[in-house]
Amino acid sequence: MARTIIAGNWKMYRTRSEALALVNGILAGAGPVPADRELLVFPAATAIAAVVERCRYSRISVGGQNLHPQREGAFTGEISAAMLIEAGATHVLVGHSERRALFAEDDAFLACKVRAALDAGLEPVFCLGETLAEREAGQTEAVVASQVRLGLGEVSGADLAKLVVAYEPVWAIGTGRTATPDQAETAHRFLRGQLVERWGAAGSGVPLLYGGSVKPGNAAELLSRPEINGVLVGGASLEAASFLGIAAAK
Ligand code: PGA
Repeated sequence: MARTIIAGNWKMYRTRSEALALVNGILAGAGPVPADRELLVFPAATAIAAVVERCRYSRISVGGQNLHPQREGAFTGEISAAMLIEAGATHVLVGHSERRALFAEDDAFLACKVRAALDAGLEPVFCLGETLAEREAGQTEAVVASQVRLGLGEVSGADLAKLVVAYEPVWAIGTGRTATPDQAETAHRFLRGQLVERWGAAGSGVPLLYGGSVKPGNAAELLSRPEINGVLVGGASLEAASFLGIAAAK
């Protein structure tokens, strides 16, 4: 049975002090969140260590938003897996559509990042999803299949216990336009099929998160669907009340 993960991607929002205020609010209000839900936040790199420190002995895990696949080197502006781990991160986002689109990260590069995260002991949250043009051209499944095949090209069955996949249709990210629960479930079923086809039974335990304009008002129905094992939340994760509203939604 896959876990239920409620993850907040804070993107380039919240300075260190603002991040601490946000996580304090989440910790203070987390009581009603069902105990079987894992809470995970992705602060800006400069806030990770402070948020980790604040979340010690709590139910909140902390991840980085990005990593470079090399162990170290002359890569100005980049951050390595070891740096994230030393800051206390346990997870890392890989392949977010903003990284793919704005920073031209392709599947081959993302595959190296996934491998580097796994080798270092970080749990990658691998994001994928189609653009509006791809959906309208009937290419959703082909795009998702290719992102799985290439982006997870370096992953073995044994790695799957440490992998999370997030389906985030690009047209739903930050647009207020959520995929309907049926659209999300259809994509998740296809994605699950791809994982099982490639890795067998191990593929059935990988948590599949839905992302794209998740709000307190639509989270319960998304989370009620069998193949939706959690959500990856952007905008609505930036306030404790809305993040908790999603986390507690039933
Ligand atoms: P959104 O972002 O919830 O603001 O649509 C989701 C994401 O980018 O992960």
